Amino acid sequence: MSIATTRTLDGPGGIFVDTAAYTDLASWHAKADALRRADPVHRVEIDGYMSFYALTRHADVFEIERQPERFLNTLQSVLLPTTFYDQQIATGLVIKSLVHMDGQEHLGHRKITNDWFKPGNLRKVIEQRVNELARQFVDRMMARAPECDFAREIGLMFPLHVIMSILGVPEPDEPLMLRLTQELFASEDPEFGEGDALEVIANASRTFFEYFNNLTEDRRRSPAHDIATVLSEATIDGAPLGEIERVGYYMIVATAGHDTTSNSINGGLEALMRHPDQLRSLQDDPTKIDRAVDEIIRWATPVRHFLRHATEDYDLHGVRIRKGEAVLLSYLAANRDDAVFEDPHSFDIERANASEHLAFGTGVHFCLGSHLARMELRAFFRELLPRLESIELTGEPTHSVSNFVGGIKNLPVRYSLRAGQQ
Ligand code: HEM
Repeated sequence: MSIATTRTLDGPGGIFVDTAAYTDLASWHAKADALRRADPVHRVEIDGYMSFYALTRHADVFEIERQPERFLNTLQSVLLPTTFYDQQIATGLVIKSLVHMDGQEHLGHRKITNDWFKPGNLRKVIEQRVNELARQFVDRMMARAPECDFAREIGLMFPLHVIMSILGVPEPDEPLMLRLTQELFASEDPEFGEGDALEVIANASRTFFEYFNNLTEDRRRSPAHDIATVLSEATIDGAPLGEIERVGYYMIVATAGHDTTSNSINGGLEALMRHPDQLRSLQDDPTKIDRAVDEIIRWATPVRHFLRHATEDYDLHGVRIRKGEAVLLSYLAANRDDAVFEDPHSFDIERANASEHLAFGTGVHFCLGSHLARMELRAFFRELLPRLESIELTGEPTHSVSNFVGGIKNLPVRYSLRAGQQ
């Protein structure tokens, strides 16, 4: 049985488009579960957005992502209003990064930083700094005891410092980077951008271009041990990166590198507070942290989707996806698929197969920063948990209004912390 095509935001497939739907995840998941059962390749045609088929099953998201020749990312790999894409074409203000590339172009660009983000190199060049920053942020939390907005004051800021250290952005510029990221990822959230959402995105992109062009010039004059230097010196087939590709690279590392991780840390702490038995069990046995981190990332799934575009007709569960049509890979829905995860809507730090989640995608575009993200979560919770005497929510968390990258925006908590060991 299939459910009729969704044509309005209040139809069953409106949840993938409607940015506000992501602020009530219990209701979002109930609707996604119904689609997964009855119509796993659900057609959505809503005015103002490209039409697509929404995939909600883990196996289907996996199957499509593992065929990168049949299903391309293209410049339109994220669901944005069509007017935004029209405007890009009209103004020539194109954002092009790894997630907008395919084939050899993608491979060539990915190779530039791929080794840098592998576990061995991360351990060598950044782990100590990540651990120091985790300590500093838990100290900062202690200084603000007994209450703070954890998401804003700690969860958001720690990954920002890590990624900016890696990129080579000086500390005083970090607030600017934070604002621009929020404007790009949650442009329809009134808190993050004033006025027209498209204008907000266009202005943020312009500022990114200016900023990173200046940083490139600086590193060409005086190289350092950071990604800015790697990118300013990088060549593909002997030629330096084009301006659009280079700035796109900075932007994807700067943006993908912190909001995602912040949302996972915030979602993880919320889940642990709501499951005090699991919090205690993790405190009693820190060796459980690796599996817990996977479960936290499955649970939070901060990247809600990416799109792919068919290069030929393709049949899936009796639906013919025609050449040129788009499919939306719903990582959020796939990670709650009961065909893979037992009792998928319960949070369980002991879940044996938590690492099978698709929160980092799979295949050639698999998240470049997955090892770094896990390292950050491990470092943060390893520092926090032994020092935590008590913690509780003092109000309801609020969620970002975004259909692309999202999670908890405010997490009001009351707590008591011990000093760290010297
Ligand atoms: C928990 C945190 C994170 C999550 C959930 C996450 C999720 C994702 C997802 C879903 C994709 C697309 C995968 C696909 O299409 O198959 C992706 C790609 C990417 N991520 Fe992450 N990410 C996280 C952290 C990071 C960090 C810390 C970095 C820092 C460098 C990063 C950099 C990237 C880049 C550069 C890509 C594009 C890769 C490509 O297209 O080849 N991410 N990420």
